[in-house]
Amino acid sequence: MTSVVIVGTQWGDEGKGKIVDSLSQDADVIVRFQGGHNAGHTLVVDGQTIKLSLLPSGIVRKNKLTIIGNGVVLDPQALISEINYLSKLNIAVTSENLRIAENVTLILPLHKDLDLAREKQAGKSKIGTTGRGIGPAYEDKVARRSIKLIDLEDINKIPEKISRILDHHNILRKAFGLTEICADSIVDYLKDIQSQILPFMDNTWRLLNEMRLKDKKVLFEGAQGLLLDIDFGTYPFVTSSNTLPAQAAIGTGVGPKYLDNIIGITKAYTTRVGSGPFPTELFDEIGEKLGDIGKEFGTVTGRERRCGWFDAVLVRQTIQISGIDMIALTKLDVLDTFDKIMICIGYEIDGQQIDYFPFSENMQSKVKPIYEEHNGWLADTSGVNDINDLPYNALQYIKKIEEFIGIPIKIISTSPKREDIIFLENIF
Ligand code: IMP
Repeated sequence: MTSVVIVGTQWGDEGKGKIVDSLSQDADVIVRFQGGHNAGHTLVVDGQTIKLSLLPSGIVRKNKLTIIGNGVVLDPQALISEINYLSKLNIAVTSENLRIAENVTLILPLHKDLDLAREKQAGKSKIGTTGRGIGPAYEDKVARRSIKLIDLEDINKIPEKISRILDHHNILRKAFGLTEICADSIVDYLKDIQSQILPFMDNTWRLLNEMRLKDKKVLFEGAQGLLLDIDFGTYPFVTSSNTLPAQAAIGTGVGPKYLDNIIGITKAYTTRVGSGPFPTELFDEIGEKLGDIGKEFGTVTGRERRCGWFDAVLVRQTIQISGIDMIALTKLDVLDTFDKIMICIGYEIDGQQIDYFPFSENMQSKVKPIYEEHNGWLADTSGVNDINDLPYNALQYIKKIEEFIGIPIKIISTSPKREDIIFLENIF
């Protein structure tokens, strides 16, 4: 097997969808390994914008197999509506092109209820979740009370599982003033969706093992970004899964030594949705301009994204933690009209300089970015697909980032369109 893992190196929304779409042309199999329908992957195919939250992006291409691995939390209703959405675009999702791990964890409506109730109660200290039940579903997985896809095979045989999950949730629901749920309504819900989901179920670790033995090309598609990782992100303002590339192994049942090439997707500036620290955030007209030109609105929630300069310290840190081999730089064209462009190359805390982002929330609140100023290129780079056509100052900007983060930039994306991309190396 030749495998490539794609992850976001910032707070998500780096443009992974387009890069995965582009690379999936050469892949045989495209696999999701963490997160759920909180992900927002936008593809522009033949002028048509396609927004996916749950299905692997490779689903839009013909003759590709896509897999939702065990590390994902799967909302059956979200899956059904995404399949219906694609069917209206004449993209058929069948068991020929989609398989789902039998041990995937299901998101139930009660998870969404809890996510929303908690965020409402938290008021100003809310995480700013996507409100889709992702966190509560992962909590139940770790607490060993989840319903797995395979349980849908015989719903009448899982009364103990259902009562275990309800025992826990009804206590919380009562405390939040939500109506309690009875076992029958869970059974009815599961029976309703059963016939639509089970045809996709498979033993996907075995399938991937077969792919490896047949030397197939596998693309692992990460969601969110490394700064939202439950262990290494800006905790507690993170998502509830590991977004690091190592999760591609655990979240699918493929050994870590079979992950060959790890590509980090990095936006040429920085954005974040939801709460949490963001050292280079801009609260002025420059931040607004980045947001306007970059169309920085969340794919899933429509929320305005917070915008700021490129934080090379954070990106270098995520590269060092996760073992990324190369970078795909996206949205370079958004910077075309800025005469001065800043790169954050260090932080200052109480007069002391540091070269990493600390875990302590107290220290995080005091972090001030140290910037290096670059001359902008003031030329249109959108649609450029030859590195030699990039302006000198844009190449200098890329070079500076490479020098600082310590790994090469091998892919440059210059517009949302599939064809506007520069490859400096063959990836598969
Ligand atoms: P959750 O994943 O819905 O629990 O949300 C937790 C945090 O992760 C919030 O700050 C969300 O805005 C953020 N988040 C989750 N998914 C994405 C994504 O795909 N892109 C960017 N941020 C995300």
